[in-house]
Amino acid sequence: MTESDFIPKRYTKLIDKGSVSWSSPSNIALVKYWGKKKDQIPENPSISFTLSDCKTITTICFSKKEKQEEFSFEIYLDAEKKDDFKPKIETFFKRVEVYLPFLKTYHFKIETSNTFPHSSGIASSASGMSALACCLMSVEKALNPEISEAFFMQKASFLARLGSGSACRSLEGDLVVWGYHDEIDGSSDLYGTKYPFDVHNNFKNYQDTILLVDKGEKQVSSTIGHNLMHGHPFAKERFKQASKNLSGVIPVFKKGDLDAFIKIVEIEALTLHAMMMTSMPYFILMKPNTLEIINKIWVFREKTNSKVCFTLDAGANVHVLYPENETESVLKFIKNELVAYCQNGHYICDKIGFGAKQL
Ligand code: DP6
Repeated sequence: MTESDFIPKRYTKLIDKGSVSWSSPSNIALVKYWGKKKDQIPENPSISFTLSDCKTITTICFSKKEKQEEFSFEIYLDAEKKDDFKPKIETFFKRVEVYLPFLKTYHFKIETSNTFPHSSGIASSASGMSALACCLMSVEKALNPEISEAFFMQKASFLARLGSGSACRSLEGDLVVWGYHDEIDGSSDLYGTKYPFDVHNNFKNYQDTILLVDKGEKQVSSTIGHNLMHGHPFAKERFKQASKNLSGVIPVFKKGDLDAFIKIVEIEALTLHAMMMTSMPYFILMKPNTLEIINKIWVFREKTNSKVCFTLDAGANVHVLYPENETESVLKFIKNELVAYCQNGHYICDKIGFGAKQL
């Protein structure tokens, strides 16, 4: 598939108005996307667990308007009008207009809400942009009912990527690859694809407890962070390492080798942060409590032979990952030893999930 395959030829139906709703989850990268080229093309392939409970729910009501010169939309978060979200959506609409030529035909009322608190420091761009992309694809499907389910999801992922790179990995479950990799059939820089190989039962219902160390606004936006990889002294090696780590997870998923899984996931998280620490300008995105948590996890693992591990986003919060059969013991450990390092003691329990759903 190329970009031009996503430009529709013609619509077969005329519709004046309608309403569509989708829910779409967040995802957590195991091999990280960090660095992009023009048009949201990733510098390296990445893979993520789709989450289950951290979701965005979006409804779009669309109605035909008279003039078709400009985009026309309003946006609400939790029933509150959010004009400050408009520039982001306007930029997104401009980027995807060629692929969705109906965008200027309708006025859109976009109503959105998240199942996780807005101020939790959990990025809502992956769930938000993927939910929006699915809604827009439902409008397109109303105009062209022939669209197949497979194409629907592929194009929704393609559009979500143009909104926020990692969003293209939220459409399906439970493991999604984005970015071309020669060992992964069907992988593409343009959209996410379901991980096509065997996944051992050890990874079934894998748990992710998100420890909210810092609920504030991100210190560095991901766009700025990605840009810091241009001309970064270690960029080339980093992109090679990500591809190698993606090759590395294939036998890990097949055999259920949790020790090898931990090594790849943790080095990926630390490398992401190392890239930020060694860029110009440089940033430390961890907080002292992030480090405390990491050390506690390492001590707990050493002591108990647990397979718990951590990963990080481009921020201070810690995702604690562990197999389902350790849920009780790890939650006990979190409550006893880690909650003290969370802001206001807050954490969110999530697990691997199945992707976007039409409501
Ligand atoms: C650290 O997808 O938020 O979470 O494409 O600029 O919207 P944009 O970036 P974004 O970057 C996410 C980076 C990451 C790693 C990952 O999810 O792979």
